Amino acid sequence: MSNEKKNYTEQELRGMSQDELAQLGTELDEVTVAYRKERFPVENDPAEKRASISVGIFFGIAIIAAIAFLGVYLFWPWGYKGHGESGQFLHAVYTPLLGLTSGLAILCLGIGVVMIVKKMVPEEIAVQNRHDGPSDEVDRQTVTALLNDAWQTSTLGRRKALQGLLGGAGILAGLVVIAPLGGAIRNPWAVRHEMNYNGDGTLWTSGWTLHDQGVKLYLARDTGAIAEHHEGQSGNHWETKGVSRLVRVRPEDLSAAAMETVFPLAENDVNDGDRYDPQRDVYENHMHSIHGPRNAVMLIRLRHDDAKAVVERENQEDFHYGDYYAYSKICTHVGCPTSLFEAQTNRILCPCHQSQFDAMQYAKPVFGPAARALPQLPITVDEEGYLIARGNFIEPVGPAFWERES
Ligand code: FES
Repeated sequence: MSNEKKNYTEQELRGMSQDELAQLGTELDEVTVAYRKERFPVENDPAEKRASISVGIFFGIAIIAAIAFLGVYLFWPWGYKGHGESGQFLHAVYTPLLGLTSGLAILCLGIGVVMIVKKMVPEEIAVQNRHDGPSDEVDRQTVTALLNDAWQTSTLGRRKALQGLLGGAGILAGLVVIAPLGGAIRNPWAVRHEMNYNGDGTLWTSGWTLHDQGVKLYLARDTGAIAEHHEGQSGNHWETKGVSRLVRVRPEDLSAAAMETVFPLAENDVNDGDRYDPQRDVYENHMHSIHGPRNAVMLIRLRHDDAKAVVERENQEDFHYGDYYAYSKICTHVGCPTSLFEAQTNRILCPCHQSQFDAMQYAKPVFGPAARALPQLPITVDEEGYLIARGNFIEPVGPAFWERES
């Protein structure tokens, strides 16, 4: 810093005009202004108005987008809706709308600020020597004066509407960033729906939880059957009557060292075997079960000799039925389907990040990032010889989440 500044008392500084302080500031900071030109030296220049309007448009859009964001965040129906449930579309566009409105608010605020600098702040080329250390009183006052000078010469000082728009857009865009923190204090489980194939809307329930309500649940395989297309006098339509997407599984349906993906099938939705009725329409319920996010289960039949060497988990010793073991298919790492069963080693592999689980040891992780065993479903066989759930999972399936206790 130049030694000159030491000679200025606070009183002297106060006695200086803003222009003098701004001038002094550039000198003391050893700033050389090589070129400077005010954009609108004459008040109410039509070009100034045009610049002001175009900047104002962006701040206006930023304000509208920020208000829209807050409206969506506070009032849009955001609760989980399963596939095919009414209101599913509104649920699906909740997150995209948040991203769209918040992005637009911040983008337009940014464009508006850049336009102020480009269109209204004086053009200037200045060169300054670099200094270290904190600023003293003289620096602080002169810098303030320089900033005031920039404010006035940018014409923002006399553009009250633009000031309001800038302030409003700044505050609302700030709220766009801060408001989502409200999600941290809102209880996401406060609104639950009735228990169905999707559970009750919480992460610790699934279609298998229906068992806790006395519903008999079969282990059912997905046949892939689809609605049938009909053409008639009434026009084209798809017929789902008599189409059974899920059918019950018997132990003998699986050969040794095989794996089959199964889903919960409630007693009332059975439409196969000797209970088949071509007039019944259970297709939609079957699809709800298949789409239930925590429903997929791997039914594994171990080779008999391998099954003799199985290590059971404490309190799960009777969860298997003979050589048959049922593990949740939802990876405990981040929830991918652990779709691959390697029959030679009895290992289950998750293709997402290569976690491996040992089917011979209660599906505990033996490789990769997953840290918890795949939950095991207690199973047995009913009087007709079909595989059924003997209970619900005793722990939440899938990856860890805040409220889970194990
Ligand atoms: S989700 Fe399975 S390993 Fe990552």
